[in-house]
Amino acid sequence: MVPALISSYMPKLPYSNLEWGVIQKKVGPFLWLMVISTILVLFVMDSSTRFSSSVAVSHSGGLKQGSARSLPANDTDATSPELSSGDIGEVCDISEGKWVEEPRGSIYTNTTCPTMPDIKNCGKYGKDQSYVYWRWQPKGCVIPRFEPETFLGMVRGKKMAVIGDSLARDHVESLLCLLSQAEIPSIAFRDEIDKCVTWNFPEHNFTLMVLWTEYIVETIPRIENGTVASYEIHLDKASRNWTEKLPGVDYAILSGGNWFFRAVHLYEGGKLIGCINCWEQNLTRYEVTYAIRRVVRTGLHFISTCKECEGLTTFLRTYTPSHFQNGSWFDGGYCNRTSPLDESQIRLTDVAWEIRNIQREEIARVRENHRGGKVKFGVLDITKAIMMRADGHPEGHWTKRAEGRANDCLHWCLPGPVDMWSDVLLATLMKNSLS
Ligand SMILES: *[C@@H]1O[C@H](CO)[C@@H](O)[C@H](O)[C@H]1NC(C)=O
Ligand SMILES: *[C@@H]1O[C@H](CO)[C@@H](O)[C@H](O)[C@H]1NC(C)=O
Ligand SMILES: *[C@@H]1O[C@H](CO)[C@@H](O)[C@H](O)[C@H]1NC(C)=O
Ligand SMILES: *[C@@H]1O[C@H](CO)[C@@H](O)[C@H](O)[C@H]1NC(C)=O
Ligand SMILES: *[C@@H]1O[C@H](CO)[C@@H](O)[C@H](O)[C@H]1NC(C)=O
Ligand SMILES: *[C@@H]1O[C@H](CO)[C@@H](O)[C@H](O)[C@H]1NC(C)=O
Ligand SMILES: *[C@@H]1O[C@H](CO)[C@@H](O)[C@H](O)[C@H]1NC(C)=O
Repeated sequence: MVPALISSYMPKLPYSNLEWGVIQKKVGPFLWLMVISTILVLFVMDSSTRFSSSVAVSHSGGLKQGSARSLPANDTDATSPELSSGDIGEVCDISEGKWVEEPRGSIYTNTTCPTMPDIKNCGKYGKDQSYVYWRWQPKGCVIPRFEPETFLGMVRGKKMAVIGDSLARDHVESLLCLLSQAEIPSIAFRDEIDKCVTWNFPEHNFTLMVLWTEYIVETIPRIENGTVASYEIHLDKASRNWTEKLPGVDYAILSGGNWFFRAVHLYEGGKLIGCINCWEQNLTRYEVTYAIRRVVRTGLHFISTCKECEGLTTFLRTYTPSHFQNGSWFDGGYCNRTSPLDESQIRLTDVAWEIRNIQREEIARVRENHRGGKVKFGVLDITKAIMMRADGHPEGHWTKRAEGRANDCLHWCLPGPVDMWSDVLLATLMKNSLS
């Protein structure tokens, strides 16, 4: 069977970038839109209003039942709603696949990306570049090579917010490198701590924001003995740091998870209910997965009931795990693999996979509870693909190394595997542009 094309905005596939560039210049914007829609209609006859990069939800994994408390997917009925049929997943599930060699590498390099952050410029700090020559090959279809003009055409006149921790920042930095191949953005706003930043693409009337939140919910660092000993998080209160900025946003990409492995004190209704990785003997211990489900639910609930968020499309970008071997960030762990893992080498019993399942279940749940609502929900399920990329981290190849800091086996080099998140985003936007 010829692989189906999920977002077939290129006339000749796979990979006809050069020819396409020429055609693009000759075709006016309106005709251009017609071409896109026509081709899309041909391939994706989908009237669903749901947004999904795949429908293959795994309901396995479930929740760990131990001494710690857990929260069922549905408080009255533990089965999760199935995603719709008739979705793109019938043709192709982008979240399943393998990494295959890509001799052309990325569409940008550390010399052609004007926004390249030094901290992610692994090539400059001596990382062997072989990890760049791979692309994600979903089962049964092709994701076209990222086309910045196409992306900027799709989001013309729109505002996009990427919400989360430093991995959300990683995604934005990757997207900036990809898009700057078509238009170099300018910074419109940057807060004093460089956590919330807005970029403009004036030629395309597109605004991209990154909004910092470690836990999605309201968070107060608890200082003890002069250092941050723990984070007090209010499971039922979405953080105003991002919710305040949501009105006027057209696309939100919500993510999180990596901060929950620290010492965290959990509050519900303003009352301390327990903790994760804390030192007090007399507090109830909770699983990381409990807190993650709870804050994702709070965040999605906020969005689904937000009166000023009409027309907003929210994607949940699923969990991205670290790849420390023989230790952690704090005690000399490393990640020196030189090629992607295959599926047999990743562990789906891992907590990373459980977090991903929870995130998908919560997206399915909010869709179920808000059928026909004005806010749409989707998922960018990159967990399995990224679990296979133990070779794509900075490890020792970053600036802080010189100051004796740890190996970084959590964030992603640029260019690198993280660029694939934007491939999935574009494919998902294309696929849903008709509904
Ligand atoms: C749980 O699921 C049942 C049926 O599957 C539904 O009737 C109920 O409203 C759901 N509860 C919540 C809190 O979503
Ligand atoms: C870019 O990366 C290469 C390795 O691929 C490195 O040799 C070079 O110094 C880097 N250039 C810049 C400008 O960072
Ligand atoms: C702070 O210091 C006190 C006294 O040394 C100690 O008992 C306590 O455990 C410390 N707290 C933390 C969070 O390390
Ligand atoms: C989030 O909001 C709190 C309270 O207003 C503020 O102290 C903190 O600096 C904000 N954090 C970020 C990253 O903006
Ligand atoms: C736990 O013990 C501390 C003293 O170590 C006490 O201050 C606190 O109130 C106790 N908390 C609960 C929930 O019992
Ligand atoms: C890494 O740890 C494993 C056990 O966890 C051990 O068998 C192995 O020898 C260690 N490798 C190195 C290079 O230290
Ligand atoms: C990775 O590092 C470990 C420990 O230094 C070493 O034993 C191993 O050979 C290295 N692997 C590769 C592929 O370089």
